[in-house]
Amino acid sequence: MSGPLHDKIERNIGLMGILIAVAISFGGLVEILPLMHQSSTTQPAPGLKIRTPLEVAGRDVYIREGCYNCHSQMVRSLHEEVMRYGPASTAGESVWDHPFQWGSKRTGPDLARVGGRYSDDWHVIHLKNPRDVVPESNMPGYPWLAATPLKADDVVAEMRALSRVGVPFTEQEIAAAPAAVEGHTQMDALIAFLQSLKVPKPEAPVVTPPPTPEQAPAPAETPAEAPAAGEAAPATTDAAAPAQ
Ligand code: HEC
Repeated sequence: MSGPLHDKIERNIGLMGILIAVAISFGGLVEILPLMHQSSTTQPAPGLKIRTPLEVAGRDVYIREGCYNCHSQMVRSLHEEVMRYGPASTAGESVWDHPFQWGSKRTGPDLARVGGRYSDDWHVIHLKNPRDVVPESNMPGYPWLAATPLKADDVVAEMRALSRVGVPFTEQEIAAAPAAVEGHTQMDALIAFLQSLKVPKPEAPVVTPPPTPEQAPAPAETPAEAPAAGEAAPATTDAAAPAQ
């Protein structure tokens, strides 16, 4: 393989540096580019709910206060993590989060599954002064959030910005936002956001096709209708399968 070109590259450190950078970048692109086009990373996870205006506002407070400096929002697929926090996070859960809050530091626990773990009242006490509920906590208190009202304009602007980068808010949802956050504090919003952090549940698709194939033999108790139910069953099976 040695030749005049090889010789030239080996003797010219600048040229070699550039070519090394090209080779490494190519390796990076091969790994990164496919991820940007895979449906598992670009499509919302089944059942992923769009955030309410209050949750959008709460997420802003979360980012502003730098909660991500101590908390991750990504359960890794390691046995210990799944035992402690719940099902591992998937990329599809954060396709509407710009920027996502995966984080890389865990001074405190992961929060990706914290929704529903505590009551709203617990969060109020904890956020005002964490040591009132967890004596050994070194988390700072955020008492002023309970005394700071939300600004409707900010929430509308944030929802517009998010819809520009692909979050499917409708015009009606944006128009209804000021009324939805009216009278709420930043504390209410932050808690609404924390309570929304959980595994997305695909409710709608499961509820829409009522007769499941397993239940199809049941109507046989009323003999007259049995053949009709039997005929209908295969069609329902086909319709239900791709939805799940
Ligand atoms: C200096 C690091 C630090 C910062 C900043 C921080 N936390 Fe914490 N957080 C902790 C630690 C440590 C714990 C565990 C002890 C406790 O429960 O207070 C914790 C616990 C929590 C819990 C309970 C989690 C569980 O599963 O028990 C929640 C919820 C929480 N933090 C939310 C927040 C929010 C929201 C913010 C930003 C407003 C924030 N934290 C900022 C360190 C921090």
